[in-house]
Amino acid sequence: MADPRVTIVGATGAVGTVALEVLAQRGFPMSRLRLTASRRSVGRELAFAGENIPVEDTTPEVFDESDIAFISATDEISRDMAIAARERGCVTIDDSGVWRMDPEVPLVVPEINADDVDGHKGILSIPNCSTTPLAMVLDALRSEAGIERVVASTYQSVTGTGSAALVELEEQTRSVLEGGEAAAEQYPHQIAFNLLPHIGSLRENGYYSEEAKMLNETRKILHEPDLPVSTTCVRVPVRVSHSEAVHVAFDRPVGVARARELLAAYPGIVVVDDPANAAYPMPIDGADRDEVFVGRIREDTALENGLALWLVCDNLRKGAATNAVQIAEEIVKRGAWLR
Ligand SMILES: NC(=O)c1ccc[n+]([C@@H]2O[C@H](COP(=O)([O-])OP(=O)(O)OC[C@H]3O[C@@H](n4cnc5c(N)ncnc54)[C@H](OP(=O)(O)O)[C@@H]3O)[C@@H](O)[C@H]2O)c1
Repeated sequence: MADPRVTIVGATGAVGTVALEVLAQRGFPMSRLRLTASRRSVGRELAFAGENIPVEDTTPEVFDESDIAFISATDEISRDMAIAARERGCVTIDDSGVWRMDPEVPLVVPEINADDVDGHKGILSIPNCSTTPLAMVLDALRSEAGIERVVASTYQSVTGTGSAALVELEEQTRSVLEGGEAAAEQYPHQIAFNLLPHIGSLRENGYYSEEAKMLNETRKILHEPDLPVSTTCVRVPVRVSHSEAVHVAFDRPVGVARARELLAAYPGIVVVDDPANAAYPMPIDGADRDEVFVGRIREDTALENGLALWLVCDNLRKGAATNAVQIAEEIVKRGAWLR
């Protein structure tokens, strides 16, 4: 059987470029790789495994000769192109928020719910980049005790917004240091030397949409539809890697030592927890890594049977491209891309 033909839509973007790296690093089996982006990028070439691949326009016809598509572009492109791909027999793994809560779309973190890939109807989705590491940590711990509630605060890097936001952070930083203005386009306020408790659009209940995503997606991935999850999502002037302070109440005591053991044994989680020697996960160490790093594990003084911890995860890798490629690996393993 031939290897699948793969297309990356949004190949020039923050996630798309990392997806190229991840496909090469993991040796993903492909018989052909096509790259698309907006018309602005047509004519560019991107390097992959020693070859220069031309960037094409994103049109439905691309999927006539594709078996698996990674879509990492805009919401509009995700909405239209996932349907165009499905009509042409190509399976989509989508990175946007458009499809995640559709009951017919598996929302997958392979370490947690790989079996949800079975029976897909042509579109699968990765979670939001702050949901994935939180769900993995909760999945590791719930093998010991039931989870009663979760409260998390995030510290999210600017690449979570896309490549233009990284340019904005760098330009603002330079300008402010030189005594100039900080022109803001990607965010409603200056991000350099600042932070914004605002990610996404405002909901009626006072939460922003990123916070609503963390609640809904965590419930869907863990198959715990009533799990209480409250989050405050904050954009911080960090290049790559999201961090989260997480507080979890269980239905019985777990204990710090047992929590450490469970987390360390979980695939894709690394425990870095020696606070006496200032050893804890930091975004600069999590960047360019696929693992979720967890530390500062302690009894929560405000919650009965509660634990507090800190996590760090590269939003472009496990938070996006790596998770998408892992889903594709599950699809290939299960022969679930065959027309
Ligand atoms: N960044 C993260 O940490 C992260 C994590 C999880 C999920 N996601 C999701 O991944 C997707 C991409 O995010 P990103 O951060 O990579 O954004 P980005 O850096 O802004 O990249 C956007 C990509 O979409 C392409 N694009 C824009 N308009 C297009 C159009 N009309 N037709 C075809 N392609 C178009 C761009 O091509 P040009 O270069 O030609 O403009 C570029 O390749 C989004 O849905 C986002 O929600 C992002």
